[in-house]
Amino acid sequence: MELKTNSYATKDILSEITDGLSGFPKTLPYKLFYNNEGSDLFDQICNLKEYYLTRKEMEIMTGNIKEIADLLGEDITLIELGSGNSRKTRLLFDNLSGIKTYIPVDISDEYLHDSVASIKKDYPSLNVIPKCHDYTADLKLQIQEDLQQGRRIVFFPGSTIGNFTPFEARDFLFNLLNIIGSSGGILIGVDLKKKKELLQMAYNDNKGITAKFNLNILKRLNDEFCADFNLENFRHKALYNETEGRIEMYLISLTDQSVKLCNSTFSFKKNEKILTEYSYKYNVDEFKELLKDKLRLKRAWIDNEKMFSVQYFEPVK
Ligand code: AVJ
Repeated sequence: MELKTNSYATKDILSEITDGLSGFPKTLPYKLFYNNEGSDLFDQICNLKEYYLTRKEMEIMTGNIKEIADLLGEDITLIELGSGNSRKTRLLFDNLSGIKTYIPVDISDEYLHDSVASIKKDYPSLNVIPKCHDYTADLKLQIQEDLQQGRRIVFFPGSTIGNFTPFEARDFLFNLLNIIGSSGGILIGVDLKKKKELLQMAYNDNKGITAKFNLNILKRLNDEFCADFNLENFRHKALYNETEGRIEMYLISLTDQSVKLCNSTFSFKKNEKILTEYSYKYNVDEFKELLKDKLRLKRAWIDNEKMFSVQYFEPVK
């Protein structure tokens, strides 16, 4: 198996970081979350009581797997974006006899390596082609030579689409048309709008795992970009912005301080925030409207408590 170690150039990511810390408000790129430690922390988040997303998505998929299998059809190449946790994918392999090729795309190499090894062992006849790559950049270029005949289905679980603004989400999903062609489809998990309290609990868990996940970005800057952040001097906080329909994750400076990163110095005022992530929430109709020019919603499945949705789109003919 061939895996590229750092598919995004270190130089690009460094300028993204310094640009982000030079702006107002300060920001850091969310893709920094997913080194091996961050992916482990994210796994722990998925098992938290407060973080209903993973549990609800699994429940929806399990409860509707026959119908999902029928809609997805036969002779499938399954392209999974951000393939972190493989339980949902295994559910698909176990119930869809028609998946011939599996292309998981993930930014975290060790993680991808481990999950692919166990999938290969359990599904020996499956053609598995892992791609260690940032799927937000040139996805088509990365996988085009591996696309087989037959139906191509992009599987984008976990409401990871929420990291994009609605405008970017639309662009990103329309771009997938280059990969799925006119006969493919997109199976996507989308988190739903709901009471502010429930959302804020999901992103400010009691055990402080989400805080660790967020602070891990600063740890990476120390380890990989010769920065000297004191992690004790920053606090995690996630807020739901009701007007924009999104969770906003912040690292908040607890004091006036300055921090070195490579050859630059950045100053922080007490209570100044670094924005690390957006996580947009949608109503089913909003999401459908957003995509209607090029993608048609064939089916949306929702759990009983109306917390989460799994949706299946096909290109508009
Ligand atoms: C992986 C982007 C779907 O937005 O819920 C979890 C990431 N951040 N807790 C999300 C995340 C804080 C997660 N996604």
